[in-house]
Amino acid sequence: MAIAQPAILPEAGPFALYVVMKIVGDKRAVIQQCQGLHQSLASLNEQQADANLRASIAFGKSFWQSLDKGTPAEFDDFRPLGGGEVTAPATGGDLLLHVNSSRHDLNFYVLRQFLQPVADAVEVLDETYGYKYLDSRDMTDFIDGTENPKTLESRGDVALIKEGDFAGGSFVMVQRFVHNLPAWHRLGVEAQEKVIGRTKPDSIELDDVPANSHVGRVDIKEEGKGLKIVRHSLPYGTVTGDHGLLFIAYCHTQHNFNAMLESMYGETDGKTDTMLRFTKAVSGAYFFAPSVEMLESL
Ligand code: HEM
Repeated sequence: MAIAQPAILPEAGPFALYVVMKIVGDKRAVIQQCQGLHQSLASLNEQQADANLRASIAFGKSFWQSLDKGTPAEFDDFRPLGGGEVTAPATGGDLLLHVNSSRHDLNFYVLRQFLQPVADAVEVLDETYGYKYLDSRDMTDFIDGTENPKTLESRGDVALIKEGDFAGGSFVMVQRFVHNLPAWHRLGVEAQEKVIGRTKPDSIELDDVPANSHVGRVDIKEEGKGLKIVRHSLPYGTVTGDHGLLFIAYCHTQHNFNAMLESMYGETDGKTDTMLRFTKAVSGAYFFAPSVEMLESL
């Protein structure tokens, strides 16, 4: 079985970095940086005890196609969704760098080292540093990740393409959400629980999950089987500036992302995720993270 890139399967440390880039110059030089990344992280992990640095590199569709390695059957660009106040913009990007570790400073260091030789070839569209917040809560103060697949085996089943030319690869979805916490905190706890579909203190699913709650929108069954994704999202930001959730997830099929997004943004049955009244997506893109072997062969 082809080897998945290191950031995808293990449960992550408390800090992460998410960088979306456009390639504007020498693409061979950028690819070489990508190919050297996992080795340089392995050396850093030897020097810095308990750093647990892991990364994944993923590519946007048009850049991937320019590499002439064939295209995974389902690989589509992110489609803008919604309307009025509730929208999911498509903001694109050629390259996604996702790093997680136990140290914020090392995530910064990794990006600085990565960019130094290719600064002229790359335009950074978004650079966001995430951090574990309280006991793994989103900034709405609800626990995020309860229903995420837990074992390595189940995470592999959900995240990785099983066979064919792209085995060991994974589709990635990224959306940066900016929360409106003053509006959120005007709701009482019971109303907030109805928006999420779970209890606030301990993340227990409500007996009667409202159809327009977040869980009501994304807990989707097809032919009796729940659609699953592996989420690596973390809160980010500053109190007086933008803050919210950097949503990122991996899956062996883009279908699961599309089904969840269409359900959240009112395309499935006209119902919209009530949570989206309190948070707004400011970015949205799909990427493909090839296996380690395929990355090395580019
Ligand atoms: C569940 C928060 C965006 C997919 C949850 C839960 C929370 C949450 C609190 C319940 C606990 C859990 O099972 O993790 C948020 C916030 C978001 C966001 C604050 C953005 C601001 C998204 C997006 C998707 C998504 C964009 C997919 C397109 C899921 C899934 C579950 C979930 C699949 C598990 C549902 C289940 O099986 O019960 N989210 N989420 N979330 N979320 Fe989100």
